[in-house]
Order: sequence, then C-alpha cells, then structure tokens
Amino acid sequence: MPVDYDEDPERFRTGRRAVRAYATGDVHEPVAARVVAEGVAPVLDVGCGDGALAEALMARSPDGPGWVGLDASATMLAAAPRPAIRADAAALPVAAASVGAVCALWMLYHLQDPTVAVIEAHRVLRPGGVFVACTSARDDSPELTAHLGPQPASTFDAEEAEAIVAAVFDDVGVDRWDGAFVHLPDPAAVEQYLVGRCIGQELAAEVAAAAEVPLDVTKRGVVVWARKG
Ligand SMILES: C[S@@+](CC[C@H](N)C(=O)[O-])C[C@H]1O[C@@H](n2cnc3c(N)ncnc32)[C@H](O)[C@@H]1O
Repeated sequence: MPVDYDEDPERFRTGRRAVRAYATGDVHEPVAARVVAEGVAPVLDVGCGDGALAEALMARSPDGPGWVGLDASATMLAAAPRPAIRADAAALPVAAASVGAVCALWMLYHLQDPTVAVIEAHRVLRPGGVFVACTSARDDSPELTAHLGPQPASTFDAEEAEAIVAAVFDDVGVDRWDGAFVHLPDPAAVEQYLVGRCIGQELAAEVAAAAEVPLDVTKRGVVVWARKG
C-alpha cells in the first residue's frame, strides 16, 4: 500500500470525503462505542491520521477515555487533535504497560511486517488492555475489481489479520463485514471513490466512464479485537 500521506495528502482527503458522502458508516463509531464501553484508558491511536477515531470518541463520550494520537506523517498530524506524537508504529515511544487501548485502524497494511507493530502494541498495553485493528479483504469491492482487475495483496489483509494478531495475543476475536455499504450515484462519485483508494486519476476516470451507475459496491473486511492477559 502506498504511504503517500505527506507527498499527496489530498488523495487521503479525497478518500475520506468519498467515504463520508457515499458509505453507510465506517469502523470509527463502532470501535469508539466498544472502547468506551470497555472503560479502558488512555487510548493510543496508532496511525491516527487526521483523528477520525478521536472525533468518534469525543462524540460518544466527551469526558471519556483520554486519547493520544500517533502517526508517522507530519501532514496527517497537523490535522489531528492534540495530544499527538510523530513516531513509527514499529517503535512506540511509550512506556511498557501504560495504556488501556491501542487502536490501529486502517494502517497495519502499510507496514512491511505488521507483527512488529502488534508486538509493540502488546508491550505498551496494561494487563486487561484492548487492541483493535481493521482492514479490508482481498475480495473487497468486487464490482470495481471487475474493471480494475485483481488488486495486489497487502501485508495485513482480512484473510490473515486474525492469525497475525493471534500470534501475539492469546485472547482474539473478529467482527467481519460483508455488504453493499457504498453507493456511488454517478460517474463523478465513482472517480472520487477510486482516487481515494489509490487508483490513478486517469484510470479512475476511465473506469468511472465505463461503470454502470448508480453502482453499489460490496465492502468486505474485518475488525480484529484482542485483549492482553
Ligand atoms: C489510511 S490512514 C488511517 C488513518 C486513521 N487510522 C483512520 O482510521 O482514519 C493510515 C495512517 O497510518 C499512518 N502510518 C502509515 N505507516 C505508519 C507507521 N509505520 N507508523 C505510524 N503511522 C503510520 C499514515 O501516515 C496515515 O495517517
């Protein structure tokens, strides 16, 4: 997966706008709901981006768990709430057994070896603390794959996500999603959605012109939950 958050932050923002406009929800709200219900704090949001999880946590519980963002991209951090620190998920500048939750949403597929980041998450969690990560499946968005061809596998696809986390944590569970959660009403929406998903502008425009609209896109993926014993 390209790590283009400093070179081309508009690509990420385009994707964020497309999800907000055309998808029925994202994982941030349900993850915030469970983290608040678990009563674990503080929350270390690894690869926090512009702070979508912080926003969902605040909306659910303004006095809720303290949130600390962490991201490798200075551009993303500039748009994130505070406190937030610039660091790599593979080497967290955080004391052992010091946080209640580590969230790594839509980010472990950027790491060459996501297991290193999962081990780091386990190290910084207190006993009883919660880890959560999410990712798409390789057979996500089949309606778009029909135009684009099969997309390359990542290092943290839904097919292996649970096993990768279970190699580090003993207590692991998954919530899967599989449904037509994205509704693209017209070619402009198809193009915007594809650009947000790292498809080049030219190819995105070609596919948008060829696609039958409105286009419902089947989304498949997984949220992996784990608890430190
Ligand atoms: C797709 S965005 C997801 C942002 C946020 N978690 C969300 O759900 O909206 C991926 C984020 O991970 C960050 N990232 C990528 N590799 C990283 C690494 N090795 N360490 C820390 N952050 C990283 C990127 O800078 C980017 O902000």
